[in-house]
Amino acid sequence: PAGGTTRAICPGDPGGPPRRRASAAQWAGPMRLNGGMSELPIHVLNGPNLNLLGEREPHIYGADTLGDVEELARRTGGELGFDVECFQSNHEGALVDEIQRIRRTSVGVVINAGAYTHTSVAIRDALANLEAPFVEVHISNVHAREPFRHHSYLSDKAAAVIVGCGVQGYEFAVRRLDALVPGGEIAV
Ligand code: DQA
Repeated sequence: PAGGTTRAICPGDPGGPPRRRASAAQWAGPMRLNGGMSELPIHVLNGPNLNLLGEREPHIYGADTLGDVEELARRTGGELGFDVECFQSNHEGALVDEIQRIRRTSVGVVINAGAYTHTSVAIRDALANLEAPFVEVHISNVHAREPFRHHSYLSDKAAAVIVGCGVQGYEFAVRRLDALVPGGEIAV
């Protein structure tokens, strides 16, 4: 999905609308950082084996690499006025640590927990402590695959679930988080 030579006028462009940055003060209580106005990024978290995107079962996951996915998320966030920070790990505990680390300093989280989606109470519990909403993404249509992929420990806690849209799902997820941020243009 990377590429394209033309681009719409974006927030922050000369002559364009102002960049709309989420700030901690836009969130209730715990999101306020000492009453400050810290700008908060969107976080994109990827779980096990997603570092092999592009070479891993391309008939299921496509040809784009993790770098392409992260670039797509950064570009989409940038157009909407957000910094996007990306993290990938093959380790459940490392993902839990990262979710804990960002629990009060994220405006929204996009997570593809990979196989941990179907197994991890620990990641579910970590996400339950996020102050910000999260969007669950799966590149493939997990519901058209093996039965063990049909259940997610995350979905009922998610603000939205995006499956089967390929890597474009990450773009949709960032756009949805933008809509959910107070001051966004789309009502929840
Ligand atoms: C996946 C689907 C999971 O079932 C699988 O274990 C993955 C990727 C997806 O993006 O389609 O690793 O989350």
